[in-house]
Amino acid sequence: MTKRDLVSIDDLSNEEILALFEHADKFDGNLKIWADQCKGSILATLFFEPSTRTRLSFESAMLRLGGGVISATQGKETSASKGESLADTARVVGGRYADLIVLRHSDEGAARVVAQFAEVPVINAGDGAHEHPTQTLCDLYTLWKEKGRLHDLEVVLCGDLKYSRTIHSFAFALARFGAKLVFVPFPGMEIPKHVLERLQRKWKVRVDKGSLEDFRDLAPGRDVVYVTPAKPHQQSLFTDASFFGVEADLEKDPQGGPQKIDAIYMTRSQRERHGAGFGEDGELPTLTPEHLKKAKYKDTSVMHPLPRVNELSYELDQDPRAKYFRQAALGVPIRMALIAFYLGKIDLGPASPPPPSPEIYRSSLGIRCANPACVSNKEGLRYLLPEFFLVEERPPLLRCTFCGWEKSPTILGHLDSRKLHPANGAEAARIHLKNRVYFSSMKEAKDAGFGDG
Ligand code: NCD
Repeated sequence: MTKRDLVSIDDLSNEEILALFEHADKFDGNLKIWADQCKGSILATLFFEPSTRTRLSFESAMLRLGGGVISATQGKETSASKGESLADTARVVGGRYADLIVLRHSDEGAARVVAQFAEVPVINAGDGAHEHPTQTLCDLYTLWKEKGRLHDLEVVLCGDLKYSRTIHSFAFALARFGAKLVFVPFPGMEIPKHVLERLQRKWKVRVDKGSLEDFRDLAPGRDVVYVTPAKPHQQSLFTDASFFGVEADLEKDPQGGPQKIDAIYMTRSQRERHGAGFGEDGELPTLTPEHLKKAKYKDTSVMHPLPRVNELSYELDQDPRAKYFRQAALGVPIRMALIAFYLGKIDLGPASPPPPSPEIYRSSLGIRCANPACVSNKEGLRYLLPEFFLVEERPPLLRCTFCGWEKSPTILGHLDSRKLHPANGAEAARIHLKNRVYFSSMKEAKDAGFGDG
């Protein structure tokens, strides 16, 4: 049996997620009676970035299940500070030291690397701005308990949409359950193109620009982005080229505009990823009870992965719609269910057959991931080959297996003959994957010693 890891929220099916909730409910019924469940197992928490909730709730969950915990935090007291690679750390910790690894790291795709090199299952507790699937499970579990369902929800995602990994994983999961999403970005923190592309390509959602009067001050001068599940007749209408192609004021459109908001999910500015000179958090807007006066917000759950800075007013804490501390509390039972599952102690029912995975293109020559924060461009430079899923063949579309950024190369070289071909042509399609070298430009190809004269 191949081991399973939780690197992306896509690694669990909808059915498995719902089964995890049933187990979490069972654990939550009485947290103190499960000390035999994972007795004798060891969890390693490797946190190379700060954390309060995620690490402590994982460790609490494991202790409640009767297992043991070994932990390395901040990387300062680990061999990483001496220059050890993630790959070597993964081999060591995942070989006899622990039965399950939970990792947090600042490089996008770091969890994929550890999963590749460790013998034991690996759970991603946040890899840079990429994904945070276990926070998403807390968020979905909270919504499921509050609303009694996950399908057909209307959710506003607000704040730092650019760098919040919690937003990215949550949006992928919500789209999969058929939610309508409204992205309300703080200035300069719009949802990244690669996230919208993934939403559109995978779930065939429709993406429109619009406005949302109620939150105008939260996204000053910005367009709100609406993501709606595709209805069958829309799929043919909205293709790749339709990004932002349709201007819509959905609030006035009785078919498309949210008439009732089920949840508002606020996030803080991820200042540690914005670089110097980005401005003070105090200058950013704050969500207050004033924003939530209309009837459509009567039952809105106000959510936040925490920690909060200024983006959520403390006045909201007394409001019965505030759910963020419940979200944090539910992190314990949901992580108990996750640990028990990845240690093979509980069953989530028959796993739905995985979709056929695209072929993998790997080469030391030619294109590299364009994301400067990708692990393949950071510490992985020393030992990882750039690696992409071949998502589409003609024209070629490659997706970095580590961080998910996409690339459309224009030129294909043959590894042996060093001849070049248009990447979109029939000749290129005949070259075996292992002999291909993709390039983004003629100059790149020539510099690498390719070219037919
Ligand atoms: C989040 C994270 O680390 O991405 N925190 C968490 O795990 N609850 C959100 C954040 O730091 O803003």
